[in-house]
Amino acid sequence: MISNPAQQAVDAAITSRRSIRAYLDMPVAREDIEAILRVAARAPSGTNTQPWKVHVLQGERKRRLSSAILAAHNDPELARQHTEEYAYYPREWVSPYIERRRKVGWDLYALLGLTRDNKAGMAAQHGRNYEFFGAPVGLIFTIDRVMEQGSWLDYGMFLQSVMVAARGRGLDTCPQAAFTQYHRIIREQLALPENETVVCGMALGVADLSKIENSLITERMALEEFVKFVE
Ligand SMILES: Cc1cc2nc3c(=O)[nH]c(=O)nc-3n(C[C@H](O)[C@H](O)[C@H](O)COP(=O)(O)O)c2cc1C
Repeated sequence: MISNPAQQAVDAAITSRRSIRAYLDMPVAREDIEAILRVAARAPSGTNTQPWKVHVLQGERKRRLSSAILAAHNDPELARQHTEEYAYYPREWVSPYIERRRKVGWDLYALLGLTRDNKAGMAAQHGRNYEFFGAPVGLIFTIDRVMEQGSWLDYGMFLQSVMVAARGRGLDTCPQAAFTQYHRIIREQLALPENETVVCGMALGVADLSKIENSLITERMALEEFVKFVE
């Protein structure tokens, strides 16, 4: 079996990535953000189309976006007027995905001491998405509408590369589809041209490991469940 320092470093960067939902009040240097994005942009894309665009938000600009979204999110009447532009999840949930989805949700809520009847508590936790979970850096990812499914595949590789490059620097992330619901507010705040659509957001910063939500370790299928050596 192959074992060497490069393999160990790469594996560690990949396997130490977890979705982090509470951050320390510690800034990330602009050079580090740039380095992460420069490394991630080495991700492959069909015919090298590089369909990614990243909007980096910090300080006042990040606060402004958060408060505009939370103003809508915290008002049920207003929140209903905001719907996502693309379906990230299936319209109809089926097994085994529905069970996995429920498990990660309940595991997180259980850690936070939120019981099934505590709808307000769960809504408040969901609302933390829009503050990028307190991360110093908020990233908003957009793509040109003319790009098709293949480019979204490329985009996933780019996003994972951002998260892994962040890990290599001791930084943490949480990819966030939650932002897609409020794409109209994001468009306005970031002056996005009509042809750009929001793919997702991402929190970036240093994990606050004293926070219970960051102790969540999600499960993965056993290799035999998703791999078949064809003979
Ligand atoms: C594209 C994408 C969007 C996601 N959106 C959210 C989100 O809006 N809020 C959130 O708390 N987690 C979000 N997640 C995190 C997933 O819940 C998480 O990746 C999954 O449960 C596995 O856990 P792990 O990332 O800690 O390994 C998202 C993940 C991906 C890949």
